[in-house]
Amino acid sequence: MNTLEEIISENRKYLDRGEVASYIPELKKANKNALGLYITTLNGEEYFAGDYDTKFTIQSISKIITLALAIMDNGKDYVFSKVGMEPTTEAFNSIIDLELKNLNKPLNPMINAGAIATVSMIKGKDKNEVFNRILEFTKKLCGNENLKVDESVYTSENRTGNRNRALAYFMKSTGIIEKDVEEVLYAYFKQCSIEVTCKDLSRIATVFANEGVLPWNEERVIPKEIARIVKTIMATCGMYDASGEFAVNIGLPSKSGVGGGILAVAPGKMGIGIVGPSLDKKGNSIGGVEVLKDLSEKFDLNIF
Ligand code: DON
Repeated sequence: MNTLEEIISENRKYLDRGEVASYIPELKKANKNALGLYITTLNGEEYFAGDYDTKFTIQSISKIITLALAIMDNGKDYVFSKVGMEPTTEAFNSIIDLELKNLNKPLNPMINAGAIATVSMIKGKDKNEVFNRILEFTKKLCGNENLKVDESVYTSENRTGNRNRALAYFMKSTGIIEKDVEEVLYAYFKQCSIEVTCKDLSRIATVFANEGVLPWNEERVIPKEIARIVKTIMATCGMYDASGEFAVNIGLPSKSGVGGGILAVAPGKMGIGIVGPSLDKKGNSIGGVEVLKDLSEKFDLNIF
């Protein structure tokens, strides 16, 4: 067995200790036993193991894409006048920080409140144009023209997303969100429902690992400074209230999603995509975090 297959099979034991996300009803259908990884290096080598061809929705990992796009549209100063840059000790969908901390500004763009505020700043004449820009940009970052929305996950999120509505209406009341709230949530729920595989995540990660340039054709798609900002926010806030522990143990700018994905960036080296829908209590892939710990140690990837 090769090293990557060994890492996957050694970490399957953790899957029983987690649960698939259930607060979005459609996500309950995910396969709790899936665990897979895909690595794309900056010189184009690809390695994969386990259930790497599992399809899942990108969920919160989309927040790094919309952060890059919002800064490209508006500049760093404007975006960070409406959303902070500080980590949180609360859950990703927590309401409490929004009123009590940071003058009503969401703490960072990786928690739900901050991501909803961020997508509200992306330019477009209506909600369809805004979401279309997000989808086209995501396709570009993974070099995959076939990406599409899982409409049943979108419908499920839209129908049950009352906590996100509460966050968004609160931010509308304080002026953080200027657009119509339902228009903003349309784009947010759609961005979370884009269906991907860990190959797609690994390719997006290579673009950040390569400072905003597509490694396969040298096209610059994100300014270097913005790629750096997004990586920094990933390193400090990307794994929610587990970001500190993740930085200590793994040390790679990363972003998780409740669909079970984790995208990890090894700067100058490679992009890593993980799938493992069994989640820990904080909403991160329980097997995926362990797989990344092994990869980071074995291949000496920790950036700190
Ligand atoms: O808004 C939500 O709750 C989901 N669409 C995304 C949350 C998420 O992925 C958190 N990740 N760990």
